[in-house]
Amino acid sequence: MIRGGERGRGDVTLGSMAIHSTAVVRPMTAADSAPAAALLRREDFGEREAFFDWALTQPTIAVFVAEQDGRIIGTGTGSAHGNVGWVGVIFVASHQRGAGLGRRITRTVIDDLEARGCRTTILIASPLGRPIYVREGFADLERQVRFTIGGLPPDDRPLDPRIRPFAPPDLEAVLALDRFVTGEDRQVVLTGLVTPASTFVAVDPAGAVRGYLARAPWRGGALIAPDPDDALRLLELRRRSTGVSAKAGAGVVASNLVARERLRAAGWQEELGGVRMLRGDPLDWRPDAIWGQLNGALG
Ligand SMILES: CC(C)(COP(=O)(O)OP(=O)(O)OC[C@H]1O[C@@H](n2cnc3c(N)ncnc32)[C@H](O)[C@@H]1OP(=O)(O)O)[C@@H](O)C(=O)NCCC(=O)NCCS
Repeated sequence: MIRGGERGRGDVTLGSMAIHSTAVVRPMTAADSAPAAALLRREDFGEREAFFDWALTQPTIAVFVAEQDGRIIGTGTGSAHGNVGWVGVIFVASHQRGAGLGRRITRTVIDDLEARGCRTTILIASPLGRPIYVREGFADLERQVRFTIGGLPPDDRPLDPRIRPFAPPDLEAVLALDRFVTGEDRQVVLTGLVTPASTFVAVDPAGAVRGYLARAPWRGGALIAPDPDDALRLLELRRRSTGVSAKAGAGVVASNLVARERLRAAGWQEELGGVRMLRGDPLDWRPDAIWGQLNGALG
């Protein structure tokens, strides 16, 4: 029997040598989604089952799990948006941490994204994840700021004429706007997520799309709007769609002082979020037009 001692950050040690995790990192299967989501739920890392189920159907998303003795003890996802890849949901069960597994899952996701042609990799780091990403060559890009506000009852009055539900002929304009603002090609994931039921667009007087809000089947939503007035109008609508018992959310970069000021003035509560980090080629993006994320694994 190995008599191990606990190091400060949870490594099991033998003498001064840390025992490395022997878990296997492999692609997630449909049968893994529920146990993986249960692990994250138990450890307070959010409700991910709907996201995992959806991600497994997506040709541009790879989902990985770490398995030991038949149990899922870790997760990670890589979403390729053209040549920009997102690393997300990097998680290791708390009693298995500090043995190199988080780094190994992260490396697996990065290698997979690179093999699929990604030249830039992005993620939103938590304080626990940041040391791994620094070691893997990621550098800080921007701090995220999260906003929340209580929902409102539905409003039966006609919509503001500058907002209307998305219609299928708008898709090209939505995708072009999204590409211009994010610097990523999210066409594959957005084509499935942007529907008349999930999405509203902000339009100019001639009816051309100049912003959009797409709710995800899980919590969260992409909100892209170069004009802050459009963003605020779309967020008001989002607030009404959550119902009074729930909260609406938004997310902007910390340097977007205009957005932060406008949201605070409209009664939204501000809270610092993770750090957006980047590895590889620089990103040609317009962060001031980003007001909401589908989730931390997709931007
Ligand atoms: C982030 C997380 C996946 C790391 O998993 P892990 O298996 O402990 O990671 P590793 O053992 O590979 O550690 C990698 C590095 O992190 C650092 N590290 C690990 N545990 C640490 C701790 N408790 N405190 C400080 N640093 C720590 C070390 O610097 C280590 O680098 P090293 O190679 O120099 O030793 C894990 O802490 C976790 O699941 N956290 C909760 C979810 C989360 O925040 N995920 C990140 C989202 S962006």
